[in-house]
Amino acid sequence: MSEQIGTPVRDLQTPVLLIDLDVMEENLKKMASNFQNSLINLRPHSKTHKSPLIAKKQIEMGAIGICCQKVSEAEVMQEDGIENILLSSEIVSPAKIERVSFLSKNCDLMLVVDHIQGAELLSKIMEKNESDIGVLVDIDVGQGRCGVRTVDEAVSLAKKIDELPSINLRGFQAYNGKAQHIEGFNEREKKYRNSITMMEESVYEFKKNGLNFDVRTGGGTGTWNWDLDSEILNEVQAGSYLFMDSHYRSIGGRQEQFYEDFQASLFVLSTIISFPEDKKFIIDAGHKSLSSDSGFASCYDIEEATYISASDEHGIITVDSLGPMPKLGDSLLFQPSHCDTTINLFDYFYGIRGGMEKGFLEVILPISARGMVQ
Ligand SMILES: Cc1ncc(COP(=O)(O)O)c(C=O)c1O
Repeated sequence: MSEQIGTPVRDLQTPVLLIDLDVMEENLKKMASNFQNSLINLRPHSKTHKSPLIAKKQIEMGAIGICCQKVSEAEVMQEDGIENILLSSEIVSPAKIERVSFLSKNCDLMLVVDHIQGAELLSKIMEKNESDIGVLVDIDVGQGRCGVRTVDEAVSLAKKIDELPSINLRGFQAYNGKAQHIEGFNEREKKYRNSITMMEESVYEFKKNGLNFDVRTGGGTGTWNWDLDSEILNEVQAGSYLFMDSHYRSIGGRQEQFYEDFQASLFVLSTIISFPEDKKFIIDAGHKSLSSDSGFASCYDIEEATYISASDEHGIITVDSLGPMPKLGDSLLFQPSHCDTTINLFDYFYGIRGGMEKGFLEVILPISARGMVQ
């Protein structure tokens, strides 16, 4: 890291991961304000940013705590002072449960469970270590990933959890990741209705059976408005909203072609390192700086430029324009197609104040939980 604070954005060495701080702060404020006069809490997913500093900012602005997907992610967050964490993915190996048990002694920790085998193992290890933990039944409300598939199964698992020592039933998780990315506002709402119906049935059945449902958590950036309106969940786990990415933008908003409740604040700055053909050039940002699991990144500077293919450290760009071409050595800004997987490629965020054209480097933030996948 040889960059000086105050360096103009376009003079930074590339490829470099940038945050437009003004825009990110607006996104954080906007989401926080949605929850301000509501009985529903924001519990942002920290797998997006992997930064305890940003997690603390979200909590300062009103979030009840955070979600982590992995134990190692939670360890980094707890060590840096985050006190309220939900592990939103199943942990079933004894060695990791030992770490969960240790973590639960140092923070308010909850874990999701979708099988009696996992619940029994968790209970056994917690009891042995004289610790305890809050547990949520993970219910699949349409994603087709983890989670029990029916409300009956959820109730039956919750009853068994209730009988086990050292684990306390706190409620359920009902997250539908697929619904977050459905294209078209009306289509998204229509499909998400089924998830909401299943959440309602879960509340009804938990209540009828005398089961604790104090915590009802799920939702995300693509469905936050229905999560708030329906008032069934009391925690929303939105992650991407502070950065956004080109894929999220493409799903469409209430009235618009693009989803613009939150604006793009995350970019990768690259340099044109070769210009071998007319209207085709090569940048220094390939798979190792821009993830492509959700398609290639979008060029922010030149609308007519298309990222057509990548190798490890190179990106091939074509430009379909009669306008002036960029030149060898020019910097070029890209919006990642998927923020989470791109962030996990870098050690640091470079925070820019004053915009992506004429702004300056204000702060360098470590991505402390980068690579924490265990
Ligand atoms: C369990 C869980 N909750 C919340 C989120 C955050 O979703 P988003 O980034 O779409 O807001 C994710 C993302 O994949 C997730 O897996």
